Amino acid sequence: MPSVMEGSEGGEEGENIHYEETEDDSVSPTDLSELLKEGTKESHDRAENTQFVKDFLKGRIKKELFKLATAALYFTYSALEEEMDRNKDNPVFAPLYFPLELHRREALVKDMEYFYGEDWKEKIQCSEATQHYVDRIHHVGQHEPELLVAHAYTRYMGDLSGGQVLKKVAQRALKLPSTEEGIQFYMFENISNAQQFKQLYRARMNALDLDKNTKERIVEEANRAFRFNMQVFDELDKIGMSLTEEAQDGGVPVHDGKGDLRKCPYYADKLAGKAGPGCPYHTAMTLAKQPVVQLILAACVAVAAGAAAWYVM
Ligand code: HEM
Repeated sequence: MPSVMEGSEGGEEGENIHYEETEDDSVSPTDLSELLKEGTKESHDRAENTQFVKDFLKGRIKKELFKLATAALYFTYSALEEEMDRNKDNPVFAPLYFPLELHRREALVKDMEYFYGEDWKEKIQCSEATQHYVDRIHHVGQHEPELLVAHAYTRYMGDLSGGQVLKKVAQRALKLPSTEEGIQFYMFENISNAQQFKQLYRARMNALDLDKNTKERIVEEANRAFRFNMQVFDELDKIGMSLTEEAQDGGVPVHDGKGDLRKCPYYADKLAGKAGPGCPYHTAMTLAKQPVVQLILAACVAVAAGAAAWYVM
């Protein structure tokens, strides 16, 4: 049975959404949802395998970098949602207009306030790769609105899928409060069942009145959207390399925090993906932070002090 949930539908805020449309789950290979899923499979694999995403999934994300990634999302979603608002009554997009359920800009403003403080707007700027993405979204929204669905699909369907994994990883790795501050972006409070909502979204995409050529252009545009995302990830990855480990809250500094981190031969090996013995200072510092090791060290000091006292007596 389809479930019912509160929300907006096709431009009408505050209406109830019924999932009747999702009862018939049979799909045809010419459905836009299938064409998009199949046609962006390779791009999805590539995006999942970018260094930035792989590191993120392993919890290797510095807080400074996470803040920059969130700022990039703020600029991206501001553009996307501005163009979706512009096209909310345009039949090529109207059935996919779900401001209450999907829109992320307000959530991202809360995250920006949490990370950067009240004057966050003066502290962030749109990066080069993000600007290219933003420019394309505005171009599409204003000149080729039939392609807007590609940008909405690439982001929101992803956020409702892999994005939920990232939320947990970020919360744990960055030791963010359990009150969910800093990860509002990942919280879809008006979606009670992501799987069902995605089904509804697919049904709405399939019901758009589109010819074969337009569908092909939409798939092409979705692949382009994936590329923009990957360019942002690569840019973040490069910035991440130039950040010192201290930028990661609770992280252990490699060396003493002075000088260029990348000149450390052990660190260079790590960046190149080579398995090596690891930096001795880093290893020692990491071990020294373990409670068990601290206990053993304390015991050793006590024994040494006892022995010294016995010797001088
Ligand atoms: C952290 C890495 C990622 C993981 C673990 C991940 C995981 C997943 C999973 C499990 C699904 C299938 C969900 C379902 O069928 O209901 C999915 C779908 C999707 N993901 Fe990702 N994903 C990741 C990264 C990304 C990125 C970077 C993007 C784009 C920016 C993206 C865009 C999408 C889209 C558009 C779908 C919908 C596919 C469809 O059903 O048509 N994902 N993802």
